Amino acid sequence: MISRRYTNPFILGKKIPEELFCDRNEETRTLIKQIRNGRNVALVSPRRLGKSGLIHHCFAQEEIVDNYYTFYIDLYATSSLKELVALLGNEIYRSLKSRQSKFVEKFFAMVQSLRLGFSIDSMTGNPTIDLGIGEIQVPETTLFEIFQYLEAADKPCLVAIDEFQQIGAYSEKNVEALLRTYIQRCSTTSFIFSGSKRHVMSNMFNSPSKPFYQSAITMGLSTIPLSTYEAFAIRLFKAYDKEIDSEVVQMVYDCFEGYTWFVQMMMNELFSITDKGGRCTADMIPSAERNILSLQESSYESTMHMLSVKQKQVLHAIATEGYARTVTSGAFIKKHHLVSPSSLQTALTALIDKTIVVLTDKGYRIEDFFFARWLRSTL
Ligand SMILES: Nc1ncnc2c1ncn2[C@@H]1O[C@H](COP(=O)(O)OP(=O)(O)OP(=O)(O)O)[C@@H](O)[C@H]1O
Ligand SMILES: [Mg+2]
Repeated sequence: MISRRYTNPFILGKKIPEELFCDRNEETRTLIKQIRNGRNVALVSPRRLGKSGLIHHCFAQEEIVDNYYTFYIDLYATSSLKELVALLGNEIYRSLKSRQSKFVEKFFAMVQSLRLGFSIDSMTGNPTIDLGIGEIQVPETTLFEIFQYLEAADKPCLVAIDEFQQIGAYSEKNVEALLRTYIQRCSTTSFIFSGSKRHVMSNMFNSPSKPFYQSAITMGLSTIPLSTYEAFAIRLFKAYDKEIDSEVVQMVYDCFEGYTWFVQMMMNELFSITDKGGRCTADMIPSAERNILSLQESSYESTMHMLSVKQKQVLHAIATEGYARTVTSGAFIKKHHLVSPSSLQTALTALIDKTIVVLTDKGYRIEDFFFARWLRSTL
Protein backbone atom coordinates (compact mmCIF):
# COMPACT_ATOMS: atom_id res chain seq x y z
CA MET A 1 0.00 0.00 0.00
CA ILE A 2 1.40 3.40 -0.96
CA SER A 3 0.51 6.25 1.38
CA ARG A 4 -0.18 9.63 -0.19
CA ARG A 5 2.18 11.53 2.04
CA TYR A 6 3.98 13.17 -0.85
CA THR A 7 2.64 15.68 -3.34
CA ASN A 8 4.73 13.90 -5.93
CA PRO A 9 5.76 10.26 -5.36
CA PHE A 10 8.67 10.37 -7.83
CA ILE A 11 11.29 11.47 -5.32
CA LEU A 12 14.46 13.21 -6.42
CA GLY A 13 17.13 12.81 -3.79
CA LYS A 14 19.49 10.40 -2.13
CA LYS A 15 17.15 9.22 0.56
CA ILE A 16 14.01 7.79 -0.98
CA PRO A 17 11.22 6.56 1.33
CA GLU A 18 11.11 2.77 1.19
CA GLU A 19 7.64 2.56 -0.38
CA LEU A 20 8.75 4.86 -3.21
CA PHE A 21 12.03 3.12 -3.88
CA CYS A 22 12.05 1.07 -7.06
CA ASP A 23 13.47 -2.44 -7.06
CA ARG A 24 17.23 -2.95 -6.48
CA ASN A 25 16.31 -6.10 -4.55
CA GLU A 26 19.11 -8.19 -5.89
CA GLU A 27 21.71 -5.44 -5.52
CA THR A 28 20.53 -4.86 -1.95
CA ARG A 29 20.88 -8.56 -1.16
CA THR A 30 24.36 -8.68 -2.68
CA LEU A 31 25.55 -5.60 -0.84
CA ILE A 32 24.20 -6.81 2.50
CA LYS A 33 25.74 -10.24 1.94
CA GLN A 34 29.20 -8.68 1.55
CA ILE A 35 28.74 -6.61 4.69
CA ARG A 36 27.48 -9.60 6.66
CA ASN A 37 30.61 -11.46 5.65
CA GLY A 38 32.87 -8.67 6.82
CA ARG A 39 33.95 -7.54 3.36
CA ASN A 40 34.40 -3.96 2.30
CA VAL A 41 32.67 -2.98 -0.93
CA ALA A 42 33.66 -0.58 -3.71
CA LEU A 43 30.41 0.41 -5.42
CA VAL A 44 31.24 1.74 -8.86
CA SER A 45 28.88 2.89 -11.61
CA PRO A 46 28.34 5.83 -13.93
CA ARG A 47 26.67 8.85 -12.37
CA ARG A 48 22.98 9.05 -11.55
CA LEU A 49 22.22 5.35 -11.69
CA GLY A 50 21.38 5.12 -8.01
CA LYS A 51 24.52 4.31 -5.95
CA SER A 52 23.75 6.72 -3.12
CA GLY A 53 20.10 5.67 -3.13
CA LEU A 54 21.12 2.03 -2.90
CA ILE A 55 23.40 2.70 0.07
CA HIS A 56 20.61 4.47 1.97
CA HIS A 57 18.18 1.73 0.99
CA CYS A 58 20.56 -0.90 2.42
CA PHE A 59 20.96 1.12 5.57
CA ALA A 60 17.17 1.09 5.98
CA GLN A 61 16.88 -2.70 5.80
CA GLU A 62 15.89 -4.39 9.05
CA GLU A 63 18.96 -6.60 9.15
CA ILE A 64 21.23 -3.57 8.96
CA VAL A 65 19.18 -1.33 11.28
CA ASP A 66 19.09 -4.03 13.96
CA ASN A 67 22.70 -5.14 13.81
CA TYR A 68 24.85 -2.18 12.77
CA TYR A 69 25.52 1.45 13.45
CA THR A 70 25.49 3.05 10.01
CA PHE A 71 27.22 6.25 8.93
CA TYR A 72 27.20 8.00 5.59
CA ILE A 73 29.46 10.77 4.33
CA ASP A 74 29.64 12.30 0.86
CA LEU A 75 33.08 13.59 -0.12
CA TYR A 76 31.85 15.37 -3.27
CA ALA A 77 32.48 18.88 -1.98
CA THR A 78 35.61 18.11 0.06
CA SER A 79 39.15 18.93 -0.93
CA SER A 80 41.23 17.96 2.11
CA LEU A 81 41.63 15.26 4.71
CA LYS A 82 40.64 17.82 7.34
CA GLU A 83 37.24 18.20 5.69
CA LEU A 84 36.80 14.44 5.50
CA VAL A 85 37.59 14.09 9.20
CA ALA A 86 35.20 16.94 10.12
CA LEU A 87 32.40 15.33 8.07
CA LEU A 88 32.99 11.93 9.62
CA GLY A 89 33.14 13.30 13.16
CA ASN A 90 29.90 15.27 12.71
CA GLU A 91 28.12 12.34 11.10
CA ILE A 92 29.11 9.80 13.74
CA TYR A 93 28.23 12.01 16.69
CA ARG A 94 24.95 13.32 15.27
CA SER A 95 23.76 10.01 13.98
CA LEU A 96 24.41 8.16 17.25
CA LYS A 97 22.79 11.02 19.11
CA SER A 98 19.67 10.93 16.96
CA ARG A 99 19.42 7.18 17.55
CA GLN A 100 19.74 7.86 21.27
CA SER A 101 22.56 5.39 21.49
CA LYS A 102 24.30 5.18 24.89
CA PHE A 103 27.57 4.67 23.06
CA VAL A 104 27.60 8.35 22.06
CA GLU A 105 28.43 9.26 25.65
CA LYS A 106 31.92 7.88 25.16
CA PHE A 107 32.55 9.99 22.06
CA PHE A 108 34.48 12.87 23.58
CA ALA A 109 36.28 10.60 26.03
CA MET A 110 37.66 8.54 23.18
CA VAL A 111 37.97 11.15 20.46
CA GLN A 112 39.82 13.54 22.70
CA SER A 113 41.11 15.71 19.90
CA LEU A 114 37.53 16.80 19.16
CA ARG A 115 36.73 18.07 22.63
CA LEU A 116 37.07 21.63 21.38
CA GLY A 117 34.33 21.06 18.83
CA PHE A 118 31.85 20.23 21.55
CA SER A 119 29.21 22.84 22.47
CA ILE A 120 25.82 23.13 24.11
CA ASP A 121 22.75 23.54 21.92
CA SER A 122 21.19 26.81 23.08
CA MET A 123 17.67 25.60 22.21
CA THR A 124 17.73 22.19 23.88
CA GLY A 125 20.61 22.51 26.34
CA ASN A 126 21.99 19.21 24.98
CA PRO A 127 25.59 18.62 23.96
CA THR A 128 26.09 19.05 20.26
CA ILE A 129 28.87 19.18 17.72
CA ASP A 130 29.54 21.39 14.74
CA LEU A 131 32.96 20.66 13.39
CA GLY A 132 34.60 22.73 10.75
CA ILE A 133 38.15 22.36 9.55
CA GLY A 134 39.25 24.80 12.25
CA GLU A 135 38.49 22.19 14.91
CA ILE A 136 40.66 19.57 13.22
CA GLN A 137 44.23 20.33 14.29
CA VAL A 138 45.96 17.10 13.28
CA PRO A 139 43.58 15.14 11.03
CA GLU A 140 45.64 11.93 11.26
CA THR A 141 45.27 11.86 15.05
CA THR A 142 41.55 12.56 14.99
CA LEU A 143 40.98 9.94 12.32
CA PHE A 144 42.92 7.42 14.36
CA GLU A 145 40.79 8.17 17.42
CA ILE A 146 37.57 8.01 15.41
CA PHE A 147 38.42 4.57 14.07
CA GLN A 148 39.37 3.37 17.53
CA TYR A 149 36.04 4.66 18.77
CA LEU A 150 34.12 2.83 16.05
CA GLU A 151 35.93 -0.37 16.84
CA ALA A 152 34.95 -0.08 20.49
CA ALA A 153 31.22 0.19 19.70
CA ASP A 154 28.77 -2.35 21.12
CA LYS A 155 27.61 -3.15 17.57
CA PRO A 156 29.66 -3.37 14.38
CA CYS A 157 29.81 -0.11 12.47
CA LEU A 158 29.21 0.33 8.77
CA VAL A 159 30.67 3.44 7.17
CA ALA A 160 29.71 4.50 3.64
CA ILE A 161 32.06 6.95 1.99
CA ASP A 162 30.36 8.31 -1.11
CA GLU A 163 32.28 9.96 -3.96
CA PHE A 164 35.36 8.27 -2.54
CA GLN A 165 37.46 9.03 -5.64
CA GLN A 166 37.62 12.60 -4.37
CA ILE A 167 40.42 11.67 -1.93
CA GLY A 168 42.71 11.40 -4.94
CA ALA A 169 42.42 15.17 -5.39
CA TYR A 170 43.15 16.13 -1.76
CA SER A 171 45.75 18.73 -0.96
CA GLU A 172 47.57 16.47 1.52
CA LYS A 173 49.85 13.72 0.23
CA ASN A 174 49.38 10.02 0.98
CA VAL A 175 45.74 10.21 2.11
CA GLU A 176 45.02 6.94 0.35
CA ALA A 177 47.84 5.15 2.15
CA LEU A 178 46.87 6.63 5.50
CA LEU A 179 43.20 5.68 5.17
CA ARG A 180 44.13 2.23 3.98
CA THR A 181 46.34 1.67 7.01
CA TYR A 182 43.61 2.70 9.45
CA ILE A 183 40.91 0.76 7.63
CA GLN A 184 43.06 -2.35 7.54
CA ARG A 185 43.34 -2.24 11.31
CA CYS A 186 39.56 -2.31 11.72
CA SER A 187 38.19 -5.71 12.52
CA THR A 188 34.51 -5.00 13.21
CA THR A 189 33.94 -1.89 11.11
CA SER A 190 33.01 -2.35 7.44
CA PHE A 191 33.20 0.18 4.65
CA ILE A 192 31.36 0.94 1.44
CA PHE A 193 33.37 3.12 -0.93
CA SER A 194 31.22 4.52 -3.66
CA GLY A 195 32.24 6.44 -6.74
CA SER A 196 31.37 7.25 -10.31
CA LYS A 197 34.73 7.94 -11.90
CA ARG A 198 35.28 4.43 -13.14
CA HIS A 199 38.90 4.82 -14.09
CA VAL A 200 39.92 6.53 -10.88
CA MET A 201 38.03 4.00 -8.73
CA SER A 202 39.33 1.08 -10.71
CA ASN A 203 42.87 2.35 -10.45
CA MET A 204 42.47 2.76 -6.67
CA PHE A 205 41.12 -0.71 -6.00
CA ASN A 206 42.53 -2.87 -8.77
CA SER A 207 45.99 -1.62 -9.36
CA PRO A 208 48.70 -3.52 -7.42
CA SER A 209 50.74 -0.40 -6.78
CA LYS A 210 47.88 1.38 -5.00
CA PRO A 211 47.22 1.22 -1.24
CA PHE A 212 43.60 0.07 -1.61
CA TYR A 213 44.52 -2.79 -3.94
CA GLN A 214 42.28 -5.78 -3.21
CA SER A 215 40.94 -4.24 -0.06
CA ALA A 216 37.32 -4.25 -1.24
CA ILE A 217 34.99 -6.31 -3.40
CA THR A 218 34.09 -4.23 -6.45
CA MET A 219 30.38 -4.12 -7.22
CA GLY A 220 28.84 -2.45 -10.26
CA LEU A 221 25.33 -1.11 -10.72
CA SER A 222 23.30 -1.13 -13.93
CA THR A 223 20.04 0.46 -14.91
CA ILE A 224 16.79 -0.71 -13.35
CA PRO A 225 15.18 -3.01 -15.97
CA LEU A 226 12.51 -1.29 -18.07
CA SER A 227 9.73 -3.75 -17.16
CA THR A 228 10.41 -3.21 -13.44
CA TYR A 229 10.51 0.58 -13.69
CA GLU A 230 7.42 0.59 -15.90
CA ALA A 231 5.37 -1.40 -13.38
CA PHE A 232 6.66 0.89 -10.61
CA ALA A 233 5.67 4.09 -12.45
CA ILE A 234 2.23 2.78 -13.36
CA ARG A 235 1.65 1.71 -9.73
CA LEU A 236 2.64 5.16 -8.41
CA PHE A 237 0.35 7.00 -10.83
CA LYS A 238 -2.52 4.67 -9.87
CA ALA A 239 -1.95 5.16 -6.16
CA TYR A 240 -2.56 8.88 -6.71
CA ASP A 241 -5.64 8.42 -8.93
CA LYS A 242 -3.77 9.09 -12.14
CA GLU A 243 -2.86 6.92 -15.08
CA ILE A 244 0.07 6.68 -17.41
CA ASP A 245 0.35 4.82 -20.73
CA SER A 246 3.10 2.17 -20.64
CA GLU A 247 4.25 3.61 -23.94
CA VAL A 248 5.16 6.87 -22.15
CA VAL A 249 7.37 5.10 -19.62
CA GLN A 250 9.03 3.12 -22.40
CA MET A 251 9.69 6.23 -24.49
CA VAL A 252 11.18 8.13 -21.57
CA TYR A 253 13.25 5.14 -20.50
CA ASP A 254 14.65 4.67 -24.01
CA CYS A 255 15.30 8.35 -24.47
CA PHE A 256 17.49 8.50 -21.34
CA GLU A 257 18.91 5.01 -21.76
CA GLY A 258 17.33 3.95 -18.48
CA TYR A 259 19.55 6.26 -16.40
CA THR A 260 17.59 6.44 -13.18
CA TRP A 261 17.87 10.12 -12.31
CA PHE A 262 16.76 11.36 -15.75
CA VAL A 263 13.90 8.89 -16.01
CA GLN A 264 12.78 9.68 -12.48
CA MET A 265 13.03 13.44 -13.15
CA MET A 266 10.86 13.10 -16.28
CA MET A 267 8.33 10.98 -14.37
CA ASN A 268 8.27 13.56 -11.60
CA GLU A 269 7.45 16.29 -14.13
CA LEU A 270 4.97 14.15 -16.11
CA PHE A 271 3.23 13.30 -12.84
CA SER A 272 3.00 16.97 -11.92
CA ILE A 273 1.42 17.98 -15.23
CA THR A 274 -1.11 15.13 -15.20
CA ASP A 275 -4.42 16.16 -13.66
CA LYS A 276 -5.93 14.15 -10.84
CA GLY A 277 -8.12 11.50 -12.44
CA GLY A 278 -6.33 12.17 -15.73
CA ARG A 279 -4.06 10.16 -17.98
CA CYS A 280 -0.47 10.82 -18.95
CA THR A 281 0.03 10.32 -22.66
CA ALA A 282 2.99 10.48 -25.06
CA ASP A 283 2.08 13.96 -26.34
CA MET A 284 2.93 15.35 -22.89
CA ILE A 285 6.59 14.31 -23.11
CA PRO A 286 7.84 17.39 -25.03
CA SER A 287 6.29 19.85 -22.58
CA ALA A 288 7.66 17.91 -19.59
CA GLU A 289 11.09 18.11 -21.15
CA ARG A 290 10.71 21.83 -21.91
CA ASN A 291 9.71 22.51 -18.30
CA ILE A 292 12.78 20.68 -17.00
CA LEU A 293 15.14 22.45 -19.39
CA SER A 294 13.79 25.84 -18.43
CA LEU A 295 14.24 24.99 -14.75
CA GLN A 296 17.85 23.99 -15.36
CA GLU A 297 18.66 26.73 -17.83
CA SER A 298 20.38 29.13 -15.45
CA SER A 299 22.59 26.38 -14.06
CA TYR A 300 23.55 25.33 -17.61
CA GLU A 301 24.31 28.96 -18.45
CA SER A 302 26.61 29.29 -15.47
CA THR A 303 28.38 26.05 -16.39
CA MET A 304 28.97 27.45 -19.88
CA HIS A 305 30.21 30.67 -18.38
CA MET A 306 33.01 28.81 -16.61
CA LEU A 307 34.30 27.10 -19.75
CA SER A 308 36.93 28.28 -22.20
CA VAL A 309 36.04 28.94 -25.82
CA LYS A 310 37.73 25.71 -26.89
CA GLN A 311 35.92 23.69 -24.25
CA LYS A 312 32.59 25.15 -25.41
CA GLN A 313 33.38 24.22 -29.00
CA VAL A 314 34.19 20.64 -28.04
CA LEU A 315 31.06 20.46 -25.92
CA HIS A 316 28.84 21.67 -28.75
CA ALA A 317 30.46 19.23 -31.16
CA ILE A 318 29.88 16.27 -28.82
CA ALA A 319 26.30 17.43 -28.10
CA THR A 320 25.60 17.52 -31.83
CA GLU A 321 26.97 14.00 -32.29
CA GLY A 322 25.27 12.52 -29.21
CA TYR A 323 28.16 10.09 -28.98
CA ALA A 324 31.58 10.96 -30.36
CA ARG A 325 33.99 8.07 -30.91
CA THR A 326 36.89 10.44 -31.27
CA VAL A 327 37.30 14.15 -30.86
CA THR A 328 40.74 14.61 -32.36
CA SER A 329 40.29 12.83 -35.69
CA GLY A 330 40.60 14.84 -38.91
CA ALA A 331 37.00 14.04 -39.91
CA PHE A 332 35.57 15.21 -36.58
CA ILE A 333 37.66 18.39 -36.61
CA LYS A 334 36.59 19.21 -40.14
CA LYS A 335 32.93 18.42 -39.59
CA HIS A 336 32.70 20.67 -36.54
CA HIS A 337 35.03 23.39 -37.82
CA LEU A 338 37.52 22.86 -35.01
CA VAL A 339 41.27 23.52 -35.04
CA SER A 340 44.45 22.07 -33.58
CA PRO A 341 44.06 18.51 -32.21
CA SER A 342 46.44 19.12 -29.29
CA SER A 343 44.36 21.91 -27.76
CA LEU A 344 41.22 19.85 -28.40
CA GLN A 345 42.67 17.05 -26.32
CA THR A 346 43.39 19.51 -23.49
CA ALA A 347 39.84 20.86 -23.67
CA LEU A 348 38.39 17.33 -23.70
CA THR A 349 40.49 16.28 -20.71
CA ALA A 350 39.26 19.33 -18.77
CA LEU A 351 35.62 18.51 -19.61
CA ILE A 352 36.11 14.91 -18.48
CA ASP A 353 37.76 16.10 -15.32
CA LYS A 354 34.73 18.24 -14.52
CA THR A 355 32.49 15.20 -15.35
CA ILE A 356 30.69 17.30 -17.93
CA VAL A 357 31.76 14.76 -20.56
CA VAL A 358 32.06 11.03 -19.89
CA LEU A 359 33.64 8.24 -21.88
CA THR A 360 31.28 5.31 -22.45
CA ASP A 361 31.53 2.13 -24.52
CA LYS A 362 29.85 4.03 -27.36
CA GLY A 363 32.21 6.99 -27.19
CA TYR A 364 32.27 10.39 -25.46
CA ARG A 365 28.95 11.88 -24.46
CA ILE A 366 27.67 14.77 -22.38
CA GLU A 367 27.07 13.32 -18.93
CA ASP A 368 23.81 15.20 -18.33
CA PHE A 369 21.30 14.20 -21.00
CA PHE A 370 19.24 17.33 -20.34
CA PHE A 371 22.31 19.52 -20.71
CA ALA A 372 23.02 17.87 -24.06
CA ARG A 373 19.47 18.63 -25.20
CA TRP A 374 19.72 22.20 -24.00
CA LEU A 375 23.03 22.63 -25.84
CA ARG A 376 21.47 21.31 -29.04
CA SER A 377 18.58 23.70 -28.63
CA THR A 378 20.98 26.65 -28.44
CA LEU A 379 22.81 25.82 -31.67
N1 LIG B 1 15.68 2.67 -6.77
C1 LIG B 1 15.26 3.89 -7.07
N2 LIG B 1 13.95 4.16 -7.14
C2 LIG B 1 13.53 5.39 -7.48
N3 LIG B 1 14.33 6.41 -7.78
C3 LIG B 1 15.64 6.19 -7.72
C4 LIG B 1 16.18 4.93 -7.36
N4 LIG B 1 17.53 5.01 -7.41
C5 LIG B 1 17.81 6.28 -7.77
N5 LIG B 1 16.69 6.99 -7.96
C6 LIG B 1 16.58 8.37 -8.44
O1 LIG B 1 17.73 8.65 -9.17
C7 LIG B 1 18.43 9.73 -8.59
C8 LIG B 1 19.91 9.44 -8.67
O2 LIG B 1 20.23 8.44 -7.75
P1 LIG B 1 21.54 8.51 -6.85
O3 LIG B 1 21.78 9.89 -6.38
O4 LIG B 1 21.42 7.43 -5.87
O5 LIG B 1 22.59 8.13 -7.98
P2 LIG B 1 24.16 8.08 -7.89
O6 LIG B 1 24.57 6.89 -8.71
O7 LIG B 1 24.60 8.16 -6.49
O8 LIG B 1 24.54 9.39 -8.68
P3 LIG B 1 25.86 10.31 -8.56
O9 LIG B 1 26.97 9.48 -9.10
O10 LIG B 1 25.53 11.48 -9.42
O11 LIG B 1 26.04 10.64 -7.12
C9 LIG B 1 17.90 9.87 -7.20
O12 LIG B 1 17.92 11.21 -6.80
C10 LIG B 1 16.49 9.39 -7.33
O13 LIG B 1 15.68 10.43 -7.78
MG1 LIG C 1 25.71 9.57 -5.46
